Amino acid sequence: MALNPNPTADLSKITCIEDLRQVAQKRVPRMFYDYADSGSWTESTYRANEADFQSIKLRQRVAVNMEGRSTRSTMLGQDVTMPVAIAPTGLTGMQHADGEIYGARAAKAFGIPFTLSTMSICSLEDIAEHTDRHPFMFQLYVMRDRDFVQRLIERAKAANCSALQITLDLQILGQRHKDIKNGLSAPPKLTLKNMLNIASKPRWALGMVGTQRRSFGNIVGHVKGVDNMSSLSAWTAQQFDPTLSWADVEWIKKQWGGKIVLKGIQDAEDARLAVNSGADALIVSNHGGRQLDGAPSSISALPAIADAVGNTIEVWMDGGVRSGQDVLKARALGARGVLLGRAWLYALGAYGQPGVTKALEIIRNELDLTMAFCGKTDINTVDKGILLPA
Ligand SMILES: Cc1cc2nc3c(=O)[nH]c(=O)nc-3n(C[C@H](O)[C@H](O)[C@H](O)COP(=O)(O)O)c2cc1C
Repeated sequence: MALNPNPTADLSKITCIEDLRQVAQKRVPRMFYDYADSGSWTESTYRANEADFQSIKLRQRVAVNMEGRSTRSTMLGQDVTMPVAIAPTGLTGMQHADGEIYGARAAKAFGIPFTLSTMSICSLEDIAEHTDRHPFMFQLYVMRDRDFVQRLIERAKAANCSALQITLDLQILGQRHKDIKNGLSAPPKLTLKNMLNIASKPRWALGMVGTQRRSFGNIVGHVKGVDNMSSLSAWTAQQFDPTLSWADVEWIKKQWGGKIVLKGIQDAEDARLAVNSGADALIVSNHGGRQLDGAPSSISALPAIADAVGNTIEVWMDGGVRSGQDVLKARALGARGVLLGRAWLYALGAYGQPGVTKALEIIRNELDLTMAFCGKTDINTVDKGILLPA
């Protein structure tokens, strides 16, 4: 099927991620924009993720030779042009038609890893096909139906996935008020209110008319009896498994046989258990403030976890990363790499594939220049020394 990545978008006035957020808010139907731009209950953790980055102060150095800078590094042994990956996000093909394919293509061209969510619109096979089987990570939600999980793992192997991210913090759902009020669903329910809203987003609607990918591509057609939206909703509602335990992590590791990343760690004790489970990396994450409202921001939780883990496995983080300065601060506090959630979703909703590329360019330029202001020319030499004491 032909793709339309928005090749003619004029991005000359876009200078920061906030610009992309504002365009996305205008272009994406409210139900899906709100789905991205919200946290659970009072949204205190969602806000803290961004705010706590702001309170960390960088140490400026001068008269240091700043030529020949490099943001290149590695994440789980893979060369990356900057230590940043695209986070798994559900329903992304509803921010922009065929959204996950565009994200994966932009990441591949930029030289950073992409992660596909279990709850994506485009399937594992779609991503493999449209990126010439370039390796990407697959994020696994552990469902009660372990046969389905096993089949998903086999499909991830066949799609040439480089690592499996097991999300541990969403076996039950934090409540997001807006999603309930908007009646969130994929495809959107055609109530009068939704139809009027969609009519005011012609670009988005045109994209959706031009694609067949409007439901959960990894699930529909792969589970017996789940072939339309209502059977899918009923299935997913009872499938997230609240009994998930470390024994399941071991079982998945055995089925997969490759690299495992544990996502959703917020506590040093759990970080130690993650190391003991044989994981290759963990992600300090509170699911972008969408689950436990009242949990600490990821950046404030990071130092204790990095200390607990030491050099045993790689520590990554996500939550609130909106700039290259944030990437640098996370790196200084012990994260080998960071993941972008909303930053890439806003970019995609605003301008499709060129928007995602623009977001990555913005973040890399900010990272490169900020690193230089702090007197560093190589990202791999950045440590706590670039920060002022709190
Ligand atoms: C709209 C949206 C959907 C998400 N869906 C998933 C998902 O399917 N699986 C998952 O592990 N995390 C999911 N997340 C969490 C992200 O992977 C990531 O942890 C979070 O977005 C990071 O915070 P940030 O958005 O502030 O960068 C989602 C986040 C958002 C905003």
